Amino acid sequence: MKLIAFLAATLMVLPAPQARKAKKPAKPPVTPPAVQQQVVSVETENTSLILLIDGKGQVYTRHYGARIGQPGLYLEEALGEEDYNTCDGLAYPATGGRFVGEPALQVKYADGTHNTELYFTGVSSEERGGCSVTTLSLKDYVTELSVKLVFEAYLQEDIIVEHTEILNGGKQPLELLNYASSSLYVQADDYLLTHFWGAWAADMQMEHELLGHDLKVIESRRGTQATQGNNPSFLLSLGTREFSETAGEVIAGALAWSGNFRLSFERDNGGRLNILAGISPFASAYPLAAGASFTTPDMIYTWSGEGAGKASRNLHRWARKYSVYDGGEVNPTLLNSWEGAYFNFTTETLLRMMDDAAGMGLEMFVLDDGWFGNKFPRNGDNAGLGDWEVNTSKLPEGIDFLASYAHSKGLKFGIWIEPEMVNPRSELARNHPEWVVQSHGREVYQGRNQWVLDLSNPAVEDFVFGIFDRTMQLAPGIDYIKWDCNRVIQSFGSTYLGAQQDRFFVEYCQGLYNVMRRIREKYPRVLVQCCSSGGGRVDYGSLRYCNEIWTSDNTDARSRAFIQYGTSLIYPACVMGSHVSTVPNHQTGNVTPLKFRFDMACAGRLGMELQPKNLSADERALADRCIRSYKQYRDLVFTGDLYRLASPYDGKYYGLMYVSEDKSRAVVFTYCLDYEPRNVGGKTFRLQGLDPSRTYRVTEQNVDKSCWWGNGKRFTGDFLMGGAFNPRLPQIYSSAVFVLEAE
Ligand code: DGJ
Repeated sequence: MKLIAFLAATLMVLPAPQARKAKKPAKPPVTPPAVQQQVVSVETENTSLILLIDGKGQVYTRHYGARIGQPGLYLEEALGEEDYNTCDGLAYPATGGRFVGEPALQVKYADGTHNTELYFTGVSSEERGGCSVTTLSLKDYVTELSVKLVFEAYLQEDIIVEHTEILNGGKQPLELLNYASSSLYVQADDYLLTHFWGAWAADMQMEHELLGHDLKVIESRRGTQATQGNNPSFLLSLGTREFSETAGEVIAGALAWSGNFRLSFERDNGGRLNILAGISPFASAYPLAAGASFTTPDMIYTWSGEGAGKASRNLHRWARKYSVYDGGEVNPTLLNSWEGAYFNFTTETLLRMMDDAAGMGLEMFVLDDGWFGNKFPRNGDNAGLGDWEVNTSKLPEGIDFLASYAHSKGLKFGIWIEPEMVNPRSELARNHPEWVVQSHGREVYQGRNQWVLDLSNPAVEDFVFGIFDRTMQLAPGIDYIKWDCNRVIQSFGSTYLGAQQDRFFVEYCQGLYNVMRRIREKYPRVLVQCCSSGGGRVDYGSLRYCNEIWTSDNTDARSRAFIQYGTSLIYPACVMGSHVSTVPNHQTGNVTPLKFRFDMACAGRLGMELQPKNLSADERALADRCIRSYKQYRDLVFTGDLYRLASPYDGKYYGLMYVSEDKSRAVVFTYCLDYEPRNVGGKTFRLQGLDPSRTYRVTEQNVDKSCWWGNGKRFTGDFLMGGAFNPRLPQIYSSAVFVLEAE
């Protein structure tokens, strides 16, 4: 019976006699050389990523989590019987060989084949100030394709950053169909994925999802504004179905890329989970000529054994020190003209706003959209983008005059640009139609009445750099640029790239980074805000060049509780632009007390975005007071460790605190988001991160009568962390801010 089956199968695959004659004798199959089994351990102070190289040279991820004292013991672990269906667990699985899962790497070679099998060829390591770099070299044993897996371990922050370098060492061109930055296998009984979806004015909304078997994908195909739909980041709670701030194993990951991205989570039938992270391969089969290489963006990982709170703190500490541009430096408070004036201003309007900003103790004035365009004046969002000359009828005295007025008032001066975009109603669109992102012969769709400029074209890179450069020359001492980007890419394509359209999405983002790199070489000190209709470009790729983000176009303080909470899970408070605006709120119509709006905005980089002359005398006095007090404690917001005390998603309250590294000072923010029944006393927040044995004096800010019985008194850290801190926040939108100082 078996024999019959074998013969039938054989007969089916036998080629016709003629074809057999024509075929050259097959080369004997090549086999990879055997290597010495070994363990490579990438270590930080509290974590280990352990890679095992088997005797055939296959590289497996065996552990990512708590630090293992004797990683060599993994050599004792048998890799198991040969399994002809799978080789899950590979550190960088490629399509081909016996691997049938979701690949980190898929290559299409010139002969049309898709098989790649990577084997270990060497390992090296070097120290680079606070970071040790381990590079594993792998190579396909037939095609001369090689891959370097590069791991940077940031010891003190418990961060491991991975990227790969893919080299076509063969003589023929090839195409990269998948080219992830990282593949990470983990093993647990349950996987609770926390990730962030969003929309305009609803950025970084948290979602939890228990992963089943099969594939979960989080992706962006938007090109620009890549992060407004989904953020390239996640937290993964291991072995639990509950999200916890303080307990359990959590892996957090974030991709440093501002274009299309893809995170996938594949749980196999053995219960293992493979996390792949990288550029989205959507419409991006990337060609590699013979001898050419491709470097993927960084994937940032941390592991915490103490819940999500510690994972966030690890990311924040690392980001402030190594990733955010000038991270951890205290940035100025500001008044932004947008919601106070929109497009309707004159020089006089702006001067009076500056007077008010200076009067309230703010430190910078930012002139938002609407200052440019003459033939096509920018008096609405339907004209002028691309024509970056000062509108002489609106601002006849020029930007120079405005900037020097601001400076004379002791204010810094900032200005808005949206350099990647063009309105069809502009001189630029008429002079350079070939610079617009477009698919040949098809309609070029508009979004917010605008088109996107093709940053995959080096001439456009120069133009965009020129916009920034010329804007900086409009006045001596421009201190801040708000870089906006208000639409996604649709009907994509590039006139410049000709037949190589597959390169478009990747090279758009690389073009953007080229411009930002040039900007930083020329203007290392200017503050840059990364804005994209709010949080449409919030990622660690752009933050390398930018000091902060515009967290959301939604300035309603209630919505902000959710948006800022979500953002804080991955990104540090020093980057979170947060503004007090008017009521009813322009986005939601919600009405909240001015104090609640200040208390929310003060948990990030405080700004105001309203017409100050519309504030009453009492409101002005409160604004002055809140701004003054913020300046006393804001170093904690910019550099302290964040502890989230209550989640807005859990019910009625939101609470968080920042603690100085030496635990001598802290600031606590508490908010009521819903009606509190009268028979309930104060809300208990268990403070965190204090020194249990030190005594702290607690002072509520910006009130004459405190909402906490302990205000002005001294308490030990353990008392405050033990459940005694229970301010009364009795009504919807009650809020309170407390400063703690150790004696
Ligand atoms: C969108 C931004 O997010 C807003 O803050 C504002 O700058 C407008 N664009 C201006 O058009």
